[in-house]
Amino acid sequence: MSAVPKDFVLVHPGAALCGRLAVAGDKSISHRSAMFAALAQGRSRISGFLESGDCIATLRAMESLGAEVEIAGRSEVVVQGAGGEFKSPSAPLDMGNSGTGMRLLAGLLSGFGIEARLEGDASLSSRPMGRIAKPLAAMGSDIRMLGPDGRPPLLVRGGGLHAIDYELPVASAQVKSAVLMAGAMAAGRTSVTEPRPTRDHSERIMAALGLPITVDGLRIAIEGSGGAPLRFAARDWRVPGDFSSAAFWMLAAAATPGARVEIDGVGLNPRRTAFMDVLVRMGAKIEVSQRRESDGGEVYGDMELRGGALAGTAVGGDEIPNLIDECPLIAVAGALAEGVTEIRDAAELRAKESDRIAVMCANLASCGVAVEERTDGMLVQGARDAIRGGVEIDSHGDHRIAMAMAILALFAREPILIRGVGCIATSYPDFWEHFELLGGRIERGV
Ligand code: S3P
Repeated sequence: MSAVPKDFVLVHPGAALCGRLAVAGDKSISHRSAMFAALAQGRSRISGFLESGDCIATLRAMESLGAEVEIAGRSEVVVQGAGGEFKSPSAPLDMGNSGTGMRLLAGLLSGFGIEARLEGDASLSSRPMGRIAKPLAAMGSDIRMLGPDGRPPLLVRGGGLHAIDYELPVASAQVKSAVLMAGAMAAGRTSVTEPRPTRDHSERIMAALGLPITVDGLRIAIEGSGGAPLRFAARDWRVPGDFSSAAFWMLAAAATPGARVEIDGVGLNPRRTAFMDVLVRMGAKIEVSQRRESDGGEVYGDMELRGGALAGTAVGGDEIPNLIDECPLIAVAGALAEGVTEIRDAAELRAKESDRIAVMCANLASCGVAVEERTDGMLVQGARDAIRGGVEIDSHGDHRIAMAMAILALFAREPILIRGVGCIATSYPDFWEHFELLGGRIERGV
């Protein structure tokens, strides 16, 4: 029997991950497809839907608002839309761990003359909501942040919105999406201008549904319905594999001379794939083939990675929003590379599921990697052959920290015990199965 405690995983070093797999569906696109399918007229079949804690929470919220949801098979969801009208839910909507779910839904609900309370777990309850509440209130939404210092729960009483022109103070796709979703039902033309390009899944899905959205560089505008119900026909969606989940295997392969990993059907939206450019800059060999368009305006394809020696790099500026979720992995890549790796302009990492700058610096330091914490990032000194094992590190309840540290552990001198791995189910429930499928060795707590 394993001596590993519940909610811990012991990762053994030394395996060169090799093989072929398809990662689960994209989290960002799964949330958005669920919300728009719930609003549509008729039945939508969503294939490749990510059945993770975060996205299931969004599906349940859609049911509470009047949509009918059926889990039709593995990663296959059928949604009978509410036909443009949501009803007030009879109980608070539990958005779990999901900042995306809560922020996008607050925007969407602001368009409706209903009342809803949105709650989350301890991590979500500590995340800032003023960034969406401010523009939504400026549009006329009665949105209250019931937690301390602008934190959840949120109470939203929507309806009667008017358009605004909003300059995003932070590069955030969640805030952009919340304002655009509210703008879809406001009176007039709402515009959002972003400081740097962020993921554009909302724009693509709204355009695919025929909503009057236009993109002009960093300025996105939507013509509102003036409070009239949004009427659009249901349709089927295919959700591509999540690039952010594929990224773990990409790094594991890239950093191992002789390793080869193939990942099929992964999303290649250029607003998501900056991590691929960074790995190539560091020396990885990546080939992308079979690039194809999915019906929701997204691009996906197959990828093949071959390992070699990595060299340190610097990431910052416009690249950051397009690899924001991969920053913990870039810190790990830095530890596995020759020389120094710098992450800058990434202060947003402190407002994620954990303070990803502080937590990654602490975890790398426990493994013997020299790091310098900066306000907006970090400096990581490559320590390829000196990664200490035999330590216990903590995910701080953050799925991406837990998974990034599992990849680092492959390269340590001794096994590493990771505490708090349950959170991985919020975005990648099959992570450990895939880890083992590719040849990784673990002991899981039961
Ligand atoms: C997301 C946007 C990003 C990202 C998150 C998902 C989205 O957050 O970190 O995992 O689906 O819009 P921000 O927009 O707050 O940077």
